[in-house]
Amino acid sequence: MSEVPGLRTLLPKTPGAGEDDWLPVHTGESGADVFRSADGGRYAKCVAASDAAELRAERDRIAWLGDQGVPGPRVLDCRSGDAGACLVTSTVPGVPADELSAAELRASWGHIADAVRALHTVPVRRCPFRRDLDRMIALAHDVVSRGAVNPEFLPVEQQHTPAGELLDRLIPQTARRREQETADTVVCHGDLCLPNIVLDPRTLDVSGFIDLGRLGLADRYADLSLLLANARETWADEEDARAADAAFAERYGITLDHDRRRFYLHLDPLTWG
Ligand SMILES: Nc1ncnc2c1ncn2[C@@H]1O[C@H](COP(=O)(O)OP(=O)(O)O)[C@@H](O)[C@H]1O
Ligand SMILES: [Mg+2]
Repeated sequence: MSEVPGLRTLLPKTPGAGEDDWLPVHTGESGADVFRSADGGRYAKCVAASDAAELRAERDRIAWLGDQGVPGPRVLDCRSGDAGACLVTSTVPGVPADELSAAELRASWGHIADAVRALHTVPVRRCPFRRDLDRMIALAHDVVSRGAVNPEFLPVEQQHTPAGELLDRLIPQTARRREQETADTVVCHGDLCLPNIVLDPRTLDVSGFIDLGRLGLADRYADLSLLLANARETWADEEDARAADAAFAERYGITLDHDRRRFYLHLDPLTWG
């Protein structure tokens, strides 16, 4: 994927620095262009004008989460122009958790469980953002009706099933899932995959959560299902994955409900696009 034309013009200029002031990191799965400053201290996320509201939503969530004592980036700048909008944040130092070996991830697993638990313990009454089931179902209907589901985000066994059918399979569960959500709502990260958890490579403790655009009140399984499924890509086999799930559940303090986990895992890929 190539950069969206014109977005570079939004990047803040450092006096005396040239074209290499900002280095492209990737053109994200989210469709954003992400850049890192040459000195490594800042990241800039740039989006087309049509996605500017989402970027401002991310800015507000980053600022709010910082005030709750949960580690993450700081907002340094947020600007918009004709080409789009650009959010500049401080670098959360360390390595993204998806870059660890299985042994390293195992060593950091308890720290990750503690950090997720701490996030999920932030008092819900303080959180002005919602990411609830009804919103996610409405989003899924929109993405599915536009034919915009990315098959690569789906579990392999679902990649040849029409997205509308996948959504139809989930709908009968919504009343029950809504009740569970009402009884047990927490502040969720909203996209809790390993690349969005940055670790201190020395201590393997969590140095911060990034990519906070979907942070909000939701069922904790929205986060847990994604994290455990994503970590499965690092574990060597099913046996190791089961042991890791059990270790996580014990440290976090939960008896995992596998149906609820599966529901949120299958809903998530229908909400991006
Ligand atoms: N503030 C930050 N601190 C550290 N790394 C960051 C930061 N912002 C972005 N990154 C890096 O850039 C990648 C993409 O940024 P992210 O905000 O996750 O974009 P996307 O929404 O496309 O996933 C991240 O996975 C991470 O490696
Ligand atoms: Mg990300």
